[in-house]
Amino acid sequence: MTIKCADSAGFCFGVKRAVDTVYDLLAKENHKVYTLGPIIHNEQVVEDLASQGVQVIEHPDEIAKEDRSQAILVIRSHGVGKFLYDALEEKGMRMVDGTCPFVKKIHTIVNEAWNQGKSIIIAGDGKHPEVQGINGWCGNTAIILESPEEAKAAVLDTEKDYAVVVQTTFRQSKFDDMLAILQEKGLKMEISQTICSATEKRQKEAMELSQNVDKMIVIGDKKSSNTQKLVEICKKNCENTVHIETICDLVLKTFKKDDRIGITAGASTPPAIIKEVVVTMSEIENVNVEEVSFEQMLE
Ligand code: F3S
Repeated sequence: MTIKCADSAGFCFGVKRAVDTVYDLLAKENHKVYTLGPIIHNEQVVEDLASQGVQVIEHPDEIAKEDRSQAILVIRSHGVGKFLYDALEEKGMRMVDGTCPFVKKIHTIVNEAWNQGKSIIIAGDGKHPEVQGINGWCGNTAIILESPEEAKAAVLDTEKDYAVVVQTTFRQSKFDDMLAILQEKGLKMEISQTICSATEKRQKEAMELSQNVDKMIVIGDKKSSNTQKLVEICKKNCENTVHIETICDLVLKTFKKDDRIGITAGASTPPAIIKEVVVTMSEIENVNVEEVSFEQMLE
């Protein structure tokens, strides 16, 4: 059995930075740590942090007035709108900013363009917290377009100046199609290419790996959209693709002695979970059996 784990599997720079921030605060501070939304789309990490006293809240108002002086609020890598920074300042609350620097850069572009009187177009998913946060840097006035169809249907003004940004995890080819449609409308646009290369690299590697293996394991939270995207890509090339959250989910899958196994993981999958899968698979290889199920192994 050969096992190849993608180099880009797991945490991207921005997610690692945000998660490390929370663990660092727990190690160094006596204050109660809160995160604005789950710090990461990974139940195991969120549960581990909760067991150490980290509380997930949706709004700073959820922290009682009398507790605020002892609270530190961490903003996750997706970032938030300007009104939240203003609210925290007004309440005199301590905040640690875990916004990914690539997302922060989009906030700056959008805010500057908006202050110059430009209208903002965001290519992205309007329900995603990153897009909602970006929109919060132009007074929630952005036109959010999720697909070429929406770009086609959008009623836009050729007299206006537009600044166009794109969600960091958006697909480049889809963004290019949308730009072509907007350009056909004759709009005056300043385009910022703000797609993050970490996602593209992970997807490209998953595609290449899945073309050259018999079985593909994708590790990541079922709710993580970037993990689902990896599963989709791998399934196109390798029908024996399985999506697992932890090693426990592999219990009933069977592997053969001469299988070539590929492993990748979404941006919010911790290194420990990936390692556990790789190590367990390697141990099966050492057992040197014809065919084995994880159920038998565990027994
Ligand atoms: Fe940042 Fe890119 Fe990750 S934008 S959060 S490094 S996917």
